[in-house]
Amino acid sequence: MTITSLIEAKRILEAGQLLAIPTETVYGLAANGFDGNAIAKIYEVKNRPQFNPLILHSNSLERFQNWGVQLPELALKLAKIHSPGPITFVVPKSPQIPDIVTAGHSSVAIRIPNHALTLELLSMLNFPLAAPSANLSGTVSPTTAEHVNQQLGHLIGGVLDGGECTIGIESTIVSFVNPIPQLLRIGGLSVEAIEDVIGMPLDQSKLINNENPIAPGMLSKHYAPKTALRLGQPEDFLTNYKYSEMAFIGFNNFNKHLPLNHQFILSPEGNLAEAAQKLFAAIRQADELNVKLIVAEVFPNEYLGRAINDRLSRAAKN
Ligand code: TXA
Ligand code: MG
Repeated sequence: MTITSLIEAKRILEAGQLLAIPTETVYGLAANGFDGNAIAKIYEVKNRPQFNPLILHSNSLERFQNWGVQLPELALKLAKIHSPGPITFVVPKSPQIPDIVTAGHSSVAIRIPNHALTLELLSMLNFPLAAPSANLSGTVSPTTAEHVNQQLGHLIGGVLDGGECTIGIESTIVSFVNPIPQLLRIGGLSVEAIEDVIGMPLDQSKLINNENPIAPGMLSKHYAPKTALRLGQPEDFLTNYKYSEMAFIGFNNFNKHLPLNHQFILSPEGNLAEAAQKLFAAIRQADELNVKLIVAEVFPNEYLGRAINDRLSRAAKN
């Protein structure tokens, strides 16, 4: 059920129910971050492995500090410039944070989402919101209230409609537990922008992949559509498929041979942020065409192009 009232949203959360909330990155599936029973429902509804920790959301750093969570200096520096925004800080956990949020880890992930409606809701609550992306584990993240309703609507207390997500790709996750900050997930805030502020290169050796599953939700096979997805150009797959059997997700140029309604050109003007914002909806729509193969091209591997390539290469593992 879609709701628009913040009073109603607050009531649902205070009653220990799940509420999908809009953020600038993707929609989140939120529960009271201090209520273990409510949080357990998140794992159940998403069919999420119990060992995969959740991000806590609130509306200011001061509130996290009041809950005993201290940010190291470099994290503070970054937060001052880019929070609220598409960045998640992994920092030492405080005793007030329930173990079910962090799946037993001694660190906690925190984030201030940049979405006016959700910031207002967070300011009305006397607890943080634990929220993963509002999709079944292993499937594409939702960027509209309708996406959430289609998959989870019947299983949760409501979906707060805040329109289409403006960033469209999950937050970048950086751990500040060690002196040199570690990039754990590529996302909506570019590595270049982060390094600019902290004045040093991020340690990228702990980036999450199958060889290195620190944050197990980031295992390679993720974001999987039902239709097979492969990286490249339609021409690379002509031995096994006709043009009419393929869909194409591209950056700024149409393919000359594929039907136009099988093509998702994410930014005709060649803007990587715009392409990122449209990526997940394009994967969903391509999946609904009932073609035999979705072909996605590799994007320029810089700024948000890196986050796009990361999500596409995971989707290509299906
Ligand atoms: O943009 C986002 O980050 C969205 C919105 C809703 O805020 N949330 C999101 O949550 O993408 P989720 O659960 O789909 O991804 C969170 C990732 C998981 O891979 C999890 O393993 C990792 O964050 N994570 C959470 N706590 C962690 C911790 N203490 N240490 C390392 N990784 C952590
Ligand atoms: Mg997710």
